[in-house]
Amino acid sequence: MIETYYILAVLSLLSAVICDDSQTSLYGTWSSKSNQVFTGPGFYDPVEELLKEPSLPGLSFSFTDDQHFEEAIYQVKANPRDPQCPIAVLIYQHGTYELQDNGTLTLNPIAVDGRQLLSDPCNDNGTSVYSRYNQTEVYKWFTVQVNDYHGVYELQLYQSDGSPMQPLYLAYRPPMMLPTETLNPTNTGSGSQPSGSKQKRSLRSLVRRGLENRHKTNAVKRNESFVSSAWFKWGSLGLIGVGSIAFIIT
Ligand SMILES: *[C@@H]1O[C@H](CO)[C@@H](O)[C@H](O)[C@H]1NC(C)=O
Ligand SMILES: *[C@@H]1O[C@H](CO)[C@@H](O)[C@H](O)[C@H]1NC(C)=O
Ligand SMILES: *[C@@H]1O[C@H](CO)[C@@H](O)[C@H](O)[C@H]1NC(C)=O
Ligand SMILES: *[C@@H]1O[C@H](CO)[C@@H](O)[C@H](O)[C@H]1NC(C)=O
Repeated sequence: MIETYYILAVLSLLSAVICDDSQTSLYGTWSSKSNQVFTGPGFYDPVEELLKEPSLPGLSFSFTDDQHFEEAIYQVKANPRDPQCPIAVLIYQHGTYELQDNGTLTLNPIAVDGRQLLSDPCNDNGTSVYSRYNQTEVYKWFTVQVNDYHGVYELQLYQSDGSPMQPLYLAYRPPMMLPTETLNPTNTGSGSQPSGSKQKRSLRSLVRRGLENRHKTNAVKRNESFVSSAWFKWGSLGLIGVGSIAFIIT
């Protein structure tokens, strides 16, 4: 009798594993190895039109199970003309995604909502350029599997030419995202530059706004040990972001 229970238990466990979509699903928030860049209110504040600089470069994608995506990119590129002058770029986009039968993943951003902050310190006189950003992205295919070394889900995206992106690791499931509807409705999609960045605001109101936003998510953090250091820094992240933006707009 006892053996039967064991066998049943093992069988139900096996079927749970086999039937579990979450093993291969895009659903969740994924972050690159630096584990410092996450989609959601910690990266972009749509109300204040603020992109907040993470402490390290990296990228993050979030996917819902109803075809919405969000991406956050913080990239620092060497300046070919002057190695002392790296160029930094922050990009936020969200919208809908399409998954074809052959595995190709297409991200269709909401054109009016994308934002880019480009910092070229040796050439922009200390003023970063804040602008709209609208770029459809096509990934030829992707894999989701458990990374043997870290013991976490790993998402590998392949660019349209077949070359692999840096691997991403599951950080939150459900995902940590801003609202998925259009955040900045305007009549003219290509319209004027966002103006929010030019207004000066008190540091206190920015911090409060950041805190308010942070509570608007139902995200669940995955794997405590893997992200704990990032979580610990989370509180200071907002301040760093506010600090650098304040520096930029002053
Ligand atoms: C899947 O189909 C699309 C066109 O429908 C094509 O652009 C893409 O390259 C295909 N992907 C693969 C992996 O063959
Ligand atoms: C930076 O300042 C110099 C001198 O004031 C000016 O000639 C140049 O156009 C400025 N560059 C930018 C990108 O604003
Ligand atoms: C979480 O990640 C660490 C590596 O950073 C790994 O040792 C551990 O087994 C993982 N735990 C779970 C529950 O996946
Ligand atoms: C956004 O980009 C897509 C293709 O990348 C293009 O079809 C669309 O017209 C663009 N929209 C705006 C408002 O620039």
